[in-house]
Amino acid sequence: MTASVSLRGVNKIYARKAKNPIYAVKDFNIEIAPGEIVALLGSSGCGKTSTLRMIAGFEDVTEGEILIGGRPVHRLAPAKRNVAMAFEGYSLYPPLTLRQNIAFALKGERLDAAETNRRVDDISKLLELGPHLDRYPSSVSAGQQQRASLGRALVRKADIYLLDEPMGQLEPQLRAALRGRLKRYLREHKMTAVLVTHDQTEANALADRIAVMEGGRLQQFASPAELKDSPANLFVGTFIGEPPMNVYRVKPVIGEGRVTFRGAGGTQAEVLSYEAGQFTAPIQALIGRQEEIVLGIRPHDVAVGDGPNAGEIVSNQWIGDQTHMEASFPGGVIVSTLDARHPGRQGEPIRLSVPAGKLHIFAGDGKAIAHGTRPV
Ligand SMILES: Nc1ncnc2c1ncn2[C@@H]1O[C@H](COP(=O)(O)OP(=O)(O)O)[C@@H](O)[C@H]1O
Ligand SMILES: [Mg+2]
Repeated sequence: MTASVSLRGVNKIYARKAKNPIYAVKDFNIEIAPGEIVALLGSSGCGKTSTLRMIAGFEDVTEGEILIGGRPVHRLAPAKRNVAMAFEGYSLYPPLTLRQNIAFALKGERLDAAETNRRVDDISKLLELGPHLDRYPSSVSAGQQQRASLGRALVRKADIYLLDEPMGQLEPQLRAALRGRLKRYLREHKMTAVLVTHDQTEANALADRIAVMEGGRLQQFASPAELKDSPANLFVGTFIGEPPMNVYRVKPVIGEGRVTFRGAGGTQAEVLSYEAGQFTAPIQALIGRQEEIVLGIRPHDVAVGDGPNAGEIVSNQWIGDQTHMEASFPGGVIVSTLDARHPGRQGEPIRLSVPAGKLHIFAGDGKAIAHGTRPV
């Protein structure tokens, strides 16, 4: 009823024989535990849907293996994999009502009419589809079609559930409410689910672990907290988190009781400077070995109002529940977030501190070296 999923060395190439083959998924490896909720997260075109469709069997695997519950399935037809999928384009049957569309997924279970109706009603309640069940796909909104498609996948008993952008068409309030309900439903039924999304809020809210993808490659597979605290590389560091991490490409200089970071672009201006003691010896050693590094600092880790860095306010926006402050300082521009309103106006001076313990340090090629005081 609930199964593990393994992808081993999976590659997907479209138009293999053409002049310009498309490498959609590259050497993808992942082990998903039974009952785990996993999100494939990345921007459009990074290979999320291709990966999901290969698990379901709607796309063949160019290279590699896929196992469900330890059983190799990559050569099996979709119907033999016992997988339920909600498609990006819904693919409801136009001549059937929403109720009939959802019930259609139960055909294989040979239930009587009463039990079928009960199961359809249960899932429709969760998805707030009750009043629309007797309507046809063409006469309901995109959001209602999407929920019917999600219902059709969830109502089945399957080994795994594959959901491609399942809430992309819903308005924000319903989306937020459904996220919570969907998570509870998946948990209660111990369902293994792989969810595709380009929305990090959705991935964070729903998933136990998130697989961050870029250019067909898995960048990191970890819990939401781990992605935020310990990004494996600069891509994950800047992709996860809103507003994005501030980054500075710098040359590190260690000596005379100080660790100094100077602009790498020829300017040599001091970007940030610390007492050497603020970095542990192993981290000083790691930094000292690098010709050039990238410093990353998350906006909520910037302390505003005090500290060694003098800057000037570029913009100060209250966005309803937090302040987004942009300031220029000798090192460049820095964005910070504050929980409270800030009285500062554009052009006014401001002081900032960037705690050494909150810095993310990446090598010149983007690979993480240290997070705070922890070497990678
Ligand atoms: N059937 C197809 N034929 C050719 N190229 C495709 C096909 N499906 C997807 N692609 C290409 O593969 C890449 C990954 O697409 P996709 O898996 O849909 O990404 P995502 O779901 O992350 O947006 C893209 O460059 C896309 O244009
Ligand atoms: Mg897609």
